[in-house]
Amino acid sequence: MNEKERQLFQQLLNLKQHALAKYSHFHVASILVTADGSQYTGINIESSSYSLTICAERVALFKALSEGERDFKEIHILSDDERPVSPCGACRQVLFDYAPDLTVYMYGASGEVRVKNIQELLPDGFNDEFLK
Ligand code: THU
Repeated sequence: MNEKERQLFQQLLNLKQHALAKYSHFHVASILVTADGSQYTGINIESSSYSLTICAERVALFKALSEGERDFKEIHILSDDERPVSPCGACRQVLFDYAPDLTVYMYGASGEVRVKNIQELLPDGFNDEFLK
């Protein structure tokens, strides 16, 4: 881990304490970084009607989009698991829709980090070009 990753990892650890995961007990935190360096945070928010749960990644993205942000550089994600967390298919799609060049930093609870582009995580992804 480099110094930037160490700092974001520490922020994610603190943020993860806010996760609302009373059903799965799987806590996730994310930090989305815009092109100009602004940060938007997210946690997973679970519902008693389980399918209404929303992942940490989409919370961060939707917060940023609703504030008018459109240009995204990186997302940093941490869960409780020792292994670097792997974003779900739904989040990969929405991240690809709004941030097709996003760099995704996936952290494990003990500090391991994996870095991939969103297009590596969603090869041959569907997007709005198919809708024209
Ligand atoms: N979850 C996330 O927030 N992000 C991921 O990348 C994987 C899964 C959440 C959804 C649910 O609250 C819990 O983790 C278990 O699936």
